[in-house]
Amino acid sequence: MSPLLEGKVAIVTGAAHGIGRGHALELARHGARVVVNDLGGAVDGAGAGRDADEVVALIEKAGGTAIADYGNIAVEADVKSLVDRTVAELGRLDIVVNNAGIVRDKAIWNMSTDDFDMVMAVHVRGTWLTTRAAAQHWRGRVQAGEAVRGRIINTTSGAGLSGNFGQSNYATAKAAIVGLTLTTSLELAKLGVTVNAIGPGGMTRITATMAGQPVIEPDDLGPDEYHPMDPAGSSPLVAWLASDESQLITGQVIRAIHDKLYLMKGWHEAASASSNETRWKAETLGSTVATHLFGTRAAGLG
Ligand SMILES: NC(=O)c1ccc[n+]([C@@H]2O[C@H](COP(=O)([O-])OP(=O)(O)OC[C@H]3O[C@@H](n4cnc5c(N)ncnc54)[C@H](O)[C@@H]3O)[C@@H](O)[C@H]2O)c1
Repeated sequence: MSPLLEGKVAIVTGAAHGIGRGHALELARHGARVVVNDLGGAVDGAGAGRDADEVVALIEKAGGTAIADYGNIAVEADVKSLVDRTVAELGRLDIVVNNAGIVRDKAIWNMSTDDFDMVMAVHVRGTWLTTRAAAQHWRGRVQAGEAVRGRIINTTSGAGLSGNFGQSNYATAKAAIVGLTLTTSLELAKLGVTVNAIGPGGMTRITATMAGQPVIEPDDLGPDEYHPMDPAGSSPLVAWLASDESQLITGQVIRAIHDKLYLMKGWHEAASASSNETRWKAETLGSTVATHLFGTRAAGLG
């Protein structure tokens, strides 16, 4: 066991399987006590099982400390209870890894409002609810005179950063998580809390919703074994971002795909045009857009 996270207490949401399971095992391996949250059951969280207990048993077998939590992170009361019992049972809260997720893929013309709402609820509302609950807790600690070094690590994806066919719900949710990361990184800086997002990869029950994709659980592999689609491939990055060593890194998006880390940078001004303090005219705007924004003189931008 390494001392990187010794004395820290972490919540990992959606940690019974796949990427979150890898994060929970990794954080425990570095000395953190871990709350393994997951409502259990199938890929969409339906049909609650006791799967988080399995991860707790793995952590305890390796000499660590963990507790299971079966709350639904899209439900406000469950999230309040998750944070309250973390502090009551493990004494403190230092790290929140917002990982829980579901997919409901369909081309937008076939997607139901339910498909949209469920995906938004788990990813966006869930990440926002845990962030708010943790922020309220840490604000209270700061007001009580404590120096806080809180960590929030959110989970985005290539779909949210670049778009993906069939994922208008999921891509919207994952892009929203980036906006939430940027804004809360600004708000929580004054409390000593960093907020970053990772873009992980791995063959999990989510990717198995695509035909012919097998599932790997992180503990199918040895702790030092490399597999390009290991769901725990991003977990060392999460452990480092969770540690005191990363105090200066906040508001960042880092993808961890196969053996590479990618620092992602988003919207920036690429070109501009000015109306020189006159009102724009739609009928002449085309040539301004073509010339100044896209660098072409063709009226059809081509
Ligand atoms: N697998 C990939 O290649 C990939 C790529 C980019 C991002 N992601 C993201 O990584 C995260 C983990 O996904 P995964 O691939 O490990 O899938 P997974 O299905 O193996 O794990 C997700 C876990 O979240 C749990 N969960 C779902 N809804 C929940 C809720 N409301 N409350 C608590 N737990 C809930 C599920 O029960 C499941 O155990 C997700 O946010 C996903 O969008 C995955």
